[in-house]
Amino acid sequence: MTAVNISVIGGTGYVGLVTGLGLSEIGHQVTNIDIDQDQVNQLNSGNCPIYEEGINPVLKRNLASGRLKFSTDLESSIKGSHVVFIAVGTPSLPNGNIDLSQITEVANQLRLCIDTYKVIVIKSTVPAGATKLIRKILTDGVQGDRFDIVANPEFLREGNALADFFFPDRIILGGDSDKALSIIKSIYEPIIERDIFVEGIDNPPKEPYLVPVIQTDIASAQIIKYASNAFLATRISFINEIAEICEQVNADIKEVSKGMGYDSRIGHSYLEAGLGFGGPCLEKDLSALINTVNQDECETELLRSVLNRNDKQISSVVKKIERLLDKSIHNRTIGVLGLTFKQGTNDIRNSLSIRVIEELHKHGAVVQSYDPVVKNEILAIHANVKPCDSAYAAAENADALLILTGWKDFLSLDYQKIHSSMANPCIVDSRNLLNPSDMIALGFKYLGIGATGHDS
Ligand code: UDX
Repeated sequence: MTAVNISVIGGTGYVGLVTGLGLSEIGHQVTNIDIDQDQVNQLNSGNCPIYEEGINPVLKRNLASGRLKFSTDLESSIKGSHVVFIAVGTPSLPNGNIDLSQITEVANQLRLCIDTYKVIVIKSTVPAGATKLIRKILTDGVQGDRFDIVANPEFLREGNALADFFFPDRIILGGDSDKALSIIKSIYEPIIERDIFVEGIDNPPKEPYLVPVIQTDIASAQIIKYASNAFLATRISFINEIAEICEQVNADIKEVSKGMGYDSRIGHSYLEAGLGFGGPCLEKDLSALINTVNQDECETELLRSVLNRNDKQISSVVKKIERLLDKSIHNRTIGVLGLTFKQGTNDIRNSLSIRVIEELHKHGAVVQSYDPVVKNEILAIHANVKPCDSAYAAAENADALLILTGWKDFLSLDYQKIHSSMANPCIVDSRNLLNPSDMIALGFKYLGIGATGHDS
């Protein structure tokens, strides 16, 4: 593999940071560019703003080797790069459409500093039409073809992002220039050939075959990304609906998921019933996909119901607490365990825990919370939550304990101690994390999702 000079724009965000770290780790010379001077300074001194398994050793190693640096100087980085990854944010607008302002801003700046031929790689998740817009901005008033565009969507899961980068299930490359596609393919060569061992993270067993590379057109590449996230979300909403059916017939959703997952046509992943899907991507991408189409021609009924089912999980959890507290949670104290949208990350963007807390407040409950990584930051969102130093403090004198994020730390708590300290020992486990029989044996009233426990 030949080392390539690469710029990653949006280099301190989740996707940009992991992309820059990954590309430098496999031998490229990378500059991660961002407008946030403070984050750039922090990262240059080896401090990582995000909580992610294994990220610190990879960051320190690549800074020390000189292969990675962070900068706010877009112009000189771009001029020295052959390949430019765009990984800026594409948040949702209130109507569910995608806000492309960061992308168009970047394209406007790039237009002024593309001096020699470059491959522009779109990592950000954007609707198919966005690439036309980027191309139009980049060519506005400029002679000749100085660039090609390649769509290379990411499939990184927070908490597992580095492993997902180095050991992907597939690499998707969309574009119409063979030259550009082969440049990007060669950049990923060590990953494609699985010729890689990364110190500091869990390396999976080496597979005997190459990573599949799907070379396609730009629109198809982008729809592959949207459809993959929509499909994962659909599985989650599907299993949550089956969980509700289980509650009616007193079946156990964990057994049902296990039994279904052994069917090789179905598989086990994304069949965990619970609070639903949160985080910055699944819901946003699903809404964007729905908004991409003309609803007069294609109603996207199924996708809409996936979103509706997800919203329903919030009220269903609140109803379970009401059920355990004789209908009223007004002025009752609820201990909340877990604020992040899932375990293994410090990300609270679109966390369903936060939405449940909103509902609890609407019903007049008093909330005290604990999360292993999110502390007083919760006050910026909910000033009237009491953040606690430990899970025990969050449970103390509470009328109900509500598990909202599946942190493994919550498995090893002393539930006997928690039982003695609560005003009313009952648990709603929205992630089906605990063993219901153990909790019931300790004397808790316990409700999971999908009849995995009974309120004794
Ligand atoms: C997702 C996609 O998986 C990833 O490919 C894409 O690049 C970004 O969006 P991420 O948002 O990090 O990744 O989290 P993911 O692990 O997919 O979980 C999303 C949500 O679904 C979480 O709230 C999680 O708790 C929930 N979930 C997941 C379930 O409720 N049940 C499951 O079985 C799996």
